[in-house]
Amino acid sequence: MALSPMADMTDSAFCQVVREIGGAHIVFREMVSSEAIVRENEKTLGMTDFVEAERPIVQQIFGADPMVMAKAAASVMEHAGPEGIDINMGCPVYKLTSNFNGAALMKDPSLAAKIVKEMKAAIGDTPLSVKIRLGWDDPDTFKTFIPAMEKAGAELITMHGRTKAQAYSGTSDWDRIKIAKEIATVPFLANGDIHEPKQVHEALEHTGADGVLIARGALGNPWFFQKARDKEYDPVPVKERVAVILDHAKKHIEQYGERGIVTFRKHVSWYFKTNKLGYEIPGIKEFRGKLVRIQSLEELEGLLKEFEEYASSIDLIKT
Ligand SMILES: Cc1cc2nc3c(=O)[nH]c(=O)nc-3n(C[C@H](O)[C@H](O)[C@H](O)COP(=O)(O)O)c2cc1C
Repeated sequence: MALSPMADMTDSAFCQVVREIGGAHIVFREMVSSEAIVRENEKTLGMTDFVEAERPIVQQIFGADPMVMAKAAASVMEHAGPEGIDINMGCPVYKLTSNFNGAALMKDPSLAAKIVKEMKAAIGDTPLSVKIRLGWDDPDTFKTFIPAMEKAGAELITMHGRTKAQAYSGTSDWDRIKIAKEIATVPFLANGDIHEPKQVHEALEHTGADGVLIARGALGNPWFFQKARDKEYDPVPVKERVAVILDHAKKHIEQYGERGIVTFRKHVSWYFKTNKLGYEIPGIKEFRGKLVRIQSLEELEGLLKEFEEYASSIDLIKT
């Protein structure tokens, strides 16, 4: 089980929280731009910093120029020394695809293969993986794309069961993921729509994959991996939820400084979605409304205390 890369979300602070709770074997850090790394952009290089407790980690890189990608991979290895490097070949966002980054690489397997080859040559023994979709608009592109990436040197493949054209619509096609697993000769991880811990086992059984990559399921739910591992699916007790949120907020501020509380709002709102809580809580929408306006850690602490008192005063109803 691995934490899937998510821009602005799977940063050092969140990965540390996931690690502390346990259950994830690998954490994928959010994508970084190869162009920015090569330009020695301080902020981008800083995005690859991590603390020992996060290991093993995989740093994902995006780009389209084989030599720039190779140089960036070597810099990341020198700067941070992650256990693996991953290439983003799945992002559907226009900002990336318009520069032939992300999922656009699936339109040009020979360019994608060249990137893999150059990056592999640059990082030596460090494992190199690629994260792909089914295809750009053809859902069967993966059938020829996977062997091409393996031949070029990819040592692990993860696949999200949607095309770029689908973006996030429809559902992740686990049947095609099963076919991909049969084609792949290197370790293969399934991704997409494994939203609940109990679905991990269902997805593994359905696809035959060697593991799963969890993205949105882990947002507001860093307990996802522990729950899936232990096959224990009860809602997280309110006290524990509050303690972990506070710990996460402090780590976030440590990483980004005092103003970090503003960017922490996006996490806090995930923590209080009803499907993440596992309980119906009357008035939760209004409470979330207050949480997404927090200006300081003290304000967050006060609101969490209020939440804890309120939750203990009412009968929580499991969803
Ligand atoms: C907020 C957000 C940011 C993401 N950023 C990245 C990224 O940096 N690199 C990447 O390969 N995929 C990224 N993804 C895609 C996820 O890693 C994953 O492939 C996709 O969400 C499907 O998995 P899920 O159904 O478990 O969410 C992102 C997804 C979300 C929701």
